[in-house]
Amino acid sequence: GRDLLGIEGLTASEILSLLDLAEEFVELNRQIEKKRSTLRGRTQINLFFEASTRTQSSFEIAGKRLGADVMNMSVGSSSVKKGETLVDTAITLNAMHPDILVVRHHASGAVALLARKVDCCVVNAGDGAHEHPTQALLDALTIRRNKGRIEGLTVAICGDVLHSRVARSNILLLSTLGARVRVVAPSTLLPAGIDQFGVEVYRSMEAGLEGADIVMMLRLQRERMSGSFVPSVREYFHYFGLDEAKLRIAAKDALVMHPGPMNRGVEIDSAVADSPRSLIREQVEMGVAVRMAVLDTLARKLPNA
Ligand code: CP
Repeated sequence: GRDLLGIEGLTASEILSLLDLAEEFVELNRQIEKKRSTLRGRTQINLFFEASTRTQSSFEIAGKRLGADVMNMSVGSSSVKKGETLVDTAITLNAMHPDILVVRHHASGAVALLARKVDCCVVNAGDGAHEHPTQALLDALTIRRNKGRIEGLTVAICGDVLHSRVARSNILLLSTLGARVRVVAPSTLLPAGIDQFGVEVYRSMEAGLEGADIVMMLRLQRERMSGSFVPSVREYFHYFGLDEAKLRIAAKDALVMHPGPMNRGVEIDSAVADSPRSLIREQVEMGVAVRMAVLDTLARKLPNA
């Protein structure tokens, strides 16, 4: 379609085409001259209602490397602060004829709602606990480059699955490409109905990491919790934090991932995060390439492309 709202609905072949195109951009991004002109004359607006370091900056760099004019809407100083609604904000920006809107919002479904109100392409940069499709694509690209494949791998997604759009998009994508997906979390951080996602569910790291090829850690999203549901950091790290001892339970050549932002000493020990088995910095590099692939693919569907 015209938008990228989630991994849900994408076929394996659509996902693989995006990954293959992203591989070309990985090479381009390592050269001195990094620019293409696919998006020349196009306007991209990044509209972020929630904080971001990686996603917003990499969408900006990706758009600029493809030749777009990129504008970052700073919601903190916008009229949202004066009570303007999401839909009115979208209609206002739409009147300026952007070609691509990249949107992050704290509410699940908000990006899809906005997409129905505007004429341009909309890319979901994370909506509540629903989806973060470009994160799952960059994770898949990172896995494929390091393991040579995705099909048949055992991927353990560990931690705060309940609040994680990254987990949801990764479960959908990795299952579509034939990986075995496990989720490992305390019962309080597992969403209801998780067993209907076709994943294996584990409530301890000792069981869930056994033989895993990829250990994907999630941030404990304490800002989305309240009262007695906020676990103590010390206890959480003891049972669910990834340290070298727990990593030894996984496959001998297991690799470690984290979407960022990391809470060192909460869900992951620094020694593991900074070890040669960590793919965390490579994930960030792949983020730019994957977002270029997404923007390039959508741009080809724009009117007069
Ligand atoms: N992984 C990720 O989405 O990071 P940011 O919140 O910094 O964009």
